[in-house]
Amino acid sequence: MNLPIQQLDAADVADREQFRNAVLAGLGTRPKAIPARFLYDARGSALFDAICELPEYYLTRTETAILAANAAEISRNAGPHCTLIEFGSGSSVKSRLLLDAMPTLNAYVPIDISREHLDGTVARLRSDYPALRVEAVCADYMTLEHLPDTINGARRIGFFPGSTIGNLTPEEATSFLRRVRRLLGDGGALILGVDLKKDSRRLHDAYNDAAGITAQFTLNLLRRMNRELDGSFDLAAFAHEAFYNPSESRIEIYLRSLLNQTVSVSGRRLAFEKGELVHTEYSYKYDSASLAALAARGGFAVDRTWTDAEGLFAVAWLKASA
Ligand code: TRP
Repeated sequence: MNLPIQQLDAADVADREQFRNAVLAGLGTRPKAIPARFLYDARGSALFDAICELPEYYLTRTETAILAANAAEISRNAGPHCTLIEFGSGSSVKSRLLLDAMPTLNAYVPIDISREHLDGTVARLRSDYPALRVEAVCADYMTLEHLPDTINGARRIGFFPGSTIGNLTPEEATSFLRRVRRLLGDGGALILGVDLKKDSRRLHDAYNDAAGITAQFTLNLLRRMNRELDGSFDLAAFAHEAFYNPSESRIEIYLRSLLNQTVSVSGRRLAFEKGELVHTEYSYKYDSASLAALAARGGFAVDRTWTDAEGLFAVAWLKASA
């Protein structure tokens, strides 16, 4: 079905300006930090796709296997004629497992900040699922408060895979879930992918692959600043660093300055001490207790979880609470 992509905010506008402001603010304070969403330019997105294929990065393949094995049951939980709403749809690869198992779907609503991703996704879905109503929304799902009025009264089922919830702090994750709860309404439910706590070696290796792709992904931030913000970063003077912090149940990902150095970005001189860290991302890991607590804070209750034989990853069905 041919529906135009709805542009809900100025998602694509002034991207460069936002990057510049975020970088100058984030590198001008201590501890230094750059928001993780800037990791995903075209090269970063391609490197992340490569991460998803790495032997050490069990997350993507495990979640995909869980979805494939349980799609029929997930579809029964959803019931007939519901609307599937994906927060951050990217190329909608995982959602196809659900679409294939939900033949009576009322509509599929992919939400993504990248117009380019959405255009490609919609075109491919249109040819592979000609009968499916696709109501694409170009917006930042991290701030989205309202869905387009054209989305009808069918039961709304959200989909948020990839352990992306883990990239939010517990406070951010709580307010995200509360907003999603409002968007889905009473009777709504959320299909949520979460990475589980496990042996710290296994976690460490997933973010420190032997081939060094994750390091390239983190270092790509410097490359992006050099290209887009006229930066003078020497990529050999920084290193990717990721480790598991058990007291916070999270992987912490940084760039470490290997020298005392001064770098210019957008005409500004910025000093880095030898050993200084620039934070880029957290990846929180959950267990059933911490997931249940998060869901409750967010206005949901964990109704079911599906996991793999090793208990590495979970797909949870969160029901909107009254
Ligand atoms: N959502 C992914 C995760 O938490 C993001 C990710 C994987 C990531 N590897 C990374 C982010 C390396 C920064 C650096 O697993």
